[in-house]
Amino acid sequence: MNLATIRTLGLAVLGSAALSGAALAQQPGNAAAGERMAVAVCANCHLVREGQPQAPMDSVPSFAAVASDPALNEMRLRGFLNRPHFPMPNIELSRQQIDDLVAYFNARRDQPKTR
Ligand code: HEC
Repeated sequence: MNLATIRTLGLAVLGSAALSGAALAQQPGNAAAGERMAVAVCANCHLVREGQPQAPMDSVPSFAAVASDPALNEMRLRGFLNRPHFPMPNIELSRQQIDDLVAYFNARRDQPKTR
């Protein structure tokens, strides 16, 4: 292992520690669980990430757009996720699931935009 590799590994470890540390400090949600849920459930309509197997619906905001929308701050997101949204009136999220999704959007918001 050369020095550059060690440095890269060290940065990766530091980066993920900082991310989970920040997420833990701010809220009880688990960003990784939120992402799993987004990929499994929300991707049926939203573009959660490029290359996903499901085709997103037209005129539904991508999650990159949601995460970068300053109007959709944490409070607005929670309010929105607390009630099911058209055309999916049956998505009922538990508090834990909402915490996880909010943590997921927060983590994406803090990252540089790559997609
Ligand atoms: C059956 C399709 C469908 C599914 C599944 C779905 N959504 Fe949506 N979503 C929509 C549509 C359509 C809109 C745009 C209309 C609206 O704002 O109500 C939307 C809008 C949103 C918005 C933006 C709200 C705003 O004010 O701009 C957020 C955030 C969101 N969805 C989160 C989620 C999350 C998180 C999930 C998974 C738990 C999810 N959605 C699953 C169809 C869906």
